[in-house]
Amino acid sequence: MKWARLFATMVAAAAFAGAAQDVSNAAEVAPVDVQFTDDGVTVSLTGMAGNPEEGANVFKNRKLGNCLACHANKAMSKELFHGNVGPELDGVADRYSVPELRAIVTDSKKGLNPDTVMPGFYSLNVGVHVAEQFQGKTILSAQQVEDVVAYLATLKE
Ligand code: HEC
Repeated sequence: MKWARLFATMVAAAAFAGAAQDVSNAAEVAPVDVQFTDDGVTVSLTGMAGNPEEGANVFKNRKLGNCLACHANKAMSKELFHGNVGPELDGVADRYSVPELRAIVTDSKKGLNPDTVMPGFYSLNVGVHVAEQFQGKTILSAQQVEDVVAYLATLKE
């Protein structure tokens, strides 16, 4: 499994070199203030519902979530470069509730597995292999996280 980890780290480093979000909007929950409970993150990071179509875009866009680098799902079978470092996300909404999905995307180390190679997308603790431009910033904005969560919630079998 070592090569998979190395590959994932390389993918993550390359993938996120182009994007960084300033943490600035006062109406949003700040990354350090996100409350993780046993049920996940129960409060929307923006106070609003996400948009699943925008979320699909964040999911496949290499400069945004680039989730496809590690995760396949049938709804995206026409997109190039499906990774299989992470599990397929078909039916993920049957396996997890929306608060759980929000916790996983916000900070997978808290929401899923402390040792995961999956980046925390709305966390200031993104890991050691992170370019300087990300220090003090999150990979996705609160709105983009909500949009991705809304998209994941459509993946039912
Ligand atoms: C660098 C690779 C990588 C990237 C990029 C990545 N993930 Fe993951 N993801 C993983 C791995 C590996 C797991 C399995 C959990 C573990 O590590 O134990 C996972 C697990 C998950 C799970 C739980 C799936 C299940 O069936 O248990 C969800 C949901 C998820 N990822 C969503 C996303 C979303 C949404 C994005 C993009 C915003 C994303 N991931 C980006 C590697 C990645």
